[in-house]
Amino acid sequence: MKVNKDQLKRMKKNEFVRTAIEFVETGVVITDPELPDNPIVYTNRGFEDLSGYSSEEILGYNCRFLQGDDTDPQELKKLRIAIKNKEKVKVEIKNYRKNGQAFWNELQVYPIYIESEHQTYFVGVQQDVTKRKEAEERSDLYLDQVKSLSTPIVPIDRNVSIVPLVGDIDDERVELLLNNVSTHIQKSGDEHLILDLSGVSHFTRQLHQGIDQLNQLIKLMGARLMITGVRPEFVLEGMKDDLTLSSVKSFPSVKHALKDIN
Ligand SMILES: Cc1cc2nc3c(=O)[nH]c(=O)nc-3n(C[C@H](O)[C@H](O)[C@H](O)COP(=O)(O)O)c2cc1C
Repeated sequence: MKVNKDQLKRMKKNEFVRTAIEFVETGVVITDPELPDNPIVYTNRGFEDLSGYSSEEILGYNCRFLQGDDTDPQELKKLRIAIKNKEKVKVEIKNYRKNGQAFWNELQVYPIYIESEHQTYFVGVQQDVTKRKEAEERSDLYLDQVKSLSTPIVPIDRNVSIVPLVGDIDDERVELLLNNVSTHIQKSGDEHLILDLSGVSHFTRQLHQGIDQLNQLIKLMGARLMITGVRPEFVLEGMKDDLTLSSVKSFPSVKHALKDIN
């Protein structure tokens, strides 16, 4: 067959593209949705390196063999819907290599229409983002720990716990306080909770409203709230909003509060 200049140019270009894809380090797979179960019809070397499978082992199979127990079903649903609607999609999912080792796969799937074949194929681009995901998980854990430290609950006697508040108390910390205290009282069955305000830097409206809510919550749970370390600014700030917290018993120090209990 004689090839004209244009065809030769295209062939050279195709060859060039194929070679380039073969050598990129990310995984690239192509699937054919016209075949039963949308199987892989092409994989590059990057995908073999990432998954640990050779292309001979996986050509003809659907990519779901990479999934396992910890693959998020919600992300798979996103994939399924996008593929059904022939839309592009990006997900981050847990996948497993041939040797069973888990990795985080940042997967992008694109539908591509090949005009010469009058057919749509799917291209999948896979990138191992395990290091980034693990760093994110570590920072989430760290933030959780910092949050729980920002409203520590210290059991000091049978039925009594202290919550020493330190620093500035904003809406987020008030919400955390309410959540943590209610869970704690439910679990421990404590009858008294001492909220020590001596380390609080500013007495704000949010703090007053938070203590008011905490008082009501604790009462409903059959326990009693006591506050200690109250400074004059606290009372003055509360008066502005008519939040005198008169039903909460206040003590100059934790020692005084404990004396009242025993
Ligand atoms: C081009 C392409 C690449 C894909 N690559 C992956 C992959 O690397 N890892 C994976 O877990 N799923 C991958 N999938 C998704 C699965 O093949 C499948 O679509 C998904 O599991 C949802 O369908 P299912 O519920 O029938 O399993 C890919 C899909 C396509 C179309």
